[in-house]
Amino acid sequence: MMIAVTGSSGLLGRATVDRLRADGHDVLGLDLAGTPGEGFTRVDLSDYGQVLDSLLGVTARHSGLDAVVHLAAIPVNGLVPDAATFHNNMTVSFNVMFGALRAGIRTIVYASSITAMGFPFGEAPDSLPVDEAATAANNTYGLGKVLEEAMAAQLVRWHEGTSITALRYTNVVAPDGYATFERAGDPTYRRDLLGSYVDARDGALAVSLALQHARPGFEVFNVAAPDSGLSIPTAQIAADWFPGTPASKQLGEFESLMSTDKAQRELGFRAEHLWRDEFGA
Ligand SMILES: NC(=O)c1ccc[n+]([C@@H]2O[C@H](COP(=O)([O-])OP(=O)(O)OC[C@H]3O[C@@H](n4cnc5c(N)ncnc54)[C@H](O)[C@@H]3O)[C@@H](O)[C@H]2O)c1
Repeated sequence: MMIAVTGSSGLLGRATVDRLRADGHDVLGLDLAGTPGEGFTRVDLSDYGQVLDSLLGVTARHSGLDAVVHLAAIPVNGLVPDAATFHNNMTVSFNVMFGALRAGIRTIVYASSITAMGFPFGEAPDSLPVDEAATAANNTYGLGKVLEEAMAAQLVRWHEGTSITALRYTNVVAPDGYATFERAGDPTYRRDLLGSYVDARDGALAVSLALQHARPGFEVFNVAAPDSGLSIPTAQIAADWFPGTPASKQLGEFESLMSTDKAQRELGFRAEHLWRDEFGA
């Protein structure tokens, strides 16, 4: 396929471009940051004209796309004022999703977030592990992610055969970013993330699988490692963080409190990079 990846210069974008090229696809990166050259075009995705034009074609780069992977965003609150985070991310996601559909592209995979499902979990979830049924935003970044999911669920109804997949990532860890796991025995470590993490290369694997399994409609999948980022047993952590919250299944000794059962079942997603191996390495 000929695939555009927005946010291609970012943490997840770089891993995703590598993965999709290794899968045999032609990939065009689209990002505000980066050096233009083969396989990359600089685009301000907040400008609808630039988005639509670059999805329709770019001289010497492509003349039509089969799919769009949308990863561009300001990835956390605090980098810019809260309203600016919301304005950038909502505008960019509308431009990319609506522009893609207007350009006739029917397959979109994009990054949602654990912030669409209750991060930082000041309130206990209804049950553990937390699955895709949970939807709650507590800041403007998360609000954007919740609204993007609502938007995508409507957009798929407008053109027959449209597939939009939201991948709800937990905190994405760079391959050289495992130093903080030295705190794995600290019961406060990753509390706001339900203890979860995912390696950027596994985040890219989830994109690859979502493209392979794309079917008409809107789907949401949690994306996290199957194990928690803590060396404390999950039952102990769950009782400490969320006393009285029921478990919907028997949890494994170090099973993540962010459920990836759906991605495992429907996409065949199996994270390959676990902190217990990566930290020592
Ligand atoms: N990093 C995480 O822990 C994490 C967790 C959950 C979800 N996500 C989501 O995953 C996606 C990728 O995150 P990341 O960690 O790679 O972030 P990143 O900041 O490393 O990369 C994001 C990229 O988007 C680009 N971008 C932002 N606004 C743009 C605009 N208006 N026009 C063009 N390019 C623009 C930036 O230049 C950057 O290169 C985002 O949607 C983010 O919200 C990330």
